[in-house]
Amino acid sequence: MTSFWSIWVIVLTLACLALIFGLLLWNLKNYVGVKEGESCGHEFDGIEELNNPLPKWWTYMFFATFVWSVYYLAAYPGLGNFAGFLNWTSSNQGITTLEESKKAVAEAQAEGQWVQLDKEFEAADARFGPIFQEFAKQDVLTLAKNEEALEIGQRLFSQNCAQCHGSDARGGAGFPNLTDNDWLYGGSPDKIKETLLHGRVAAMPAWQDALGDQGVKEMTAYVLSLSGRTVNQKDAAAGKAKFAMCAACHGMDGKGSVAHNLPFGAPNLTDNIWLYGGSQRAVEDTLRHGRAGVMPAWKDILGEDKVHLLTAYVYSLSQDQ
Ligand code: HEC
Ligand code: HEC
Repeated sequence: MTSFWSIWVIVLTLACLALIFGLLLWNLKNYVGVKEGESCGHEFDGIEELNNPLPKWWTYMFFATFVWSVYYLAAYPGLGNFAGFLNWTSSNQGITTLEESKKAVAEAQAEGQWVQLDKEFEAADARFGPIFQEFAKQDVLTLAKNEEALEIGQRLFSQNCAQCHGSDARGGAGFPNLTDNDWLYGGSPDKIKETLLHGRVAAMPAWQDALGDQGVKEMTAYVLSLSGRTVNQKDAAAGKAKFAMCAACHGMDGKGSVAHNLPFGAPNLTDNIWLYGGSQRAVEDTLRHGRAGVMPAWKDILGEDKVHLLTAYVYSLSQDQ
């Protein structure tokens, strides 16, 4: 707010308050000069006007709200640009990046100035931190059988993961299903935890330039044939002849990175489970333009204890299959 408008707001607010206070005082004065309950001397159609002052309880309440409003305006921001003597802020307005936000929070804390959210986080950490630490001492396989741990894990999942993987963790186009036993990076507790802590970035190259339209068509036929789909045999044979260029990541048999103990996250192409869709069109798109799925890293956001619990939850999802 420019200082003109700030002053404008301050003057208007204070003038209003003064006016209201004056009105109250004026109403409390016995200006008609007769005793309480007696006639003021006016009569309208047989109805007499008596001197009835404001009820006491009402008057005291009015004073109380008045005092509160003055205190509030002095303590909290609201009166123009005046910040209030408590230095309270609802948020760090004008901050647009995570770095700016972290810096501002650190500065505010150094000055002993805390925003509401920080206080709530600290209170929550104090209360739930020990619970997470307790769970963090147990191994994932034990936790995956612990009802209470899984319940908390599920809640963490709804809050942090469901927007991409779905609330039932079954995923969608580009977001892997976490309830089956088809893994891009591996489904052991260690691998899952590694995925969650550090995130994953997939890099399936684009092949349009290397293969050309005909080559993409042939390779698509071969890829679909790996899942037992009916395809043009001649195209598939031509695709197979070039599959060596795919083997570094998917393996020569197309069974994917995990089957060959490779770190690339290349899916198994033989199980008819598709990350980006198994239609001819979808596979052609994948080959032409490549794919680069990104799984965010959660170490700094959630901390290791919560990630540990989430690992157990994710691990448990595919165990009854
Ligand atoms: C912004 C979207 C997004 C969010 C949020 C997200 N993920 Fe992911 N996740 C992905 C994508 C995309 C992949 C696949 C990466 C790839 O294509 O290689 C993935 C992969 C994974 C994998 C590896 C699956 C495999 O087959 O190896 C696991 C496990 C996983 N996510 C769990 C989680 C959990 C738990 C959370 C919550 C803490 C979470 N994800 C939050 C997008 C997300
Ligand atoms: C550098 C490693 C690498 C090479 C080489 C590679 N891919 Fe991939 N491929 C990947 C990765 C990683 C993914 C997963 C992409 C993602 O998760 O976003 C993938 C995904 C795919 C998919 C999508 C599968 C699905 O479930 O939707 C197909 C199809 C595919 N690759 C076929 C091929 C073919 C055919 C070749 C050879 C022409 C090839 N890839 C070469 C790494 C590779």
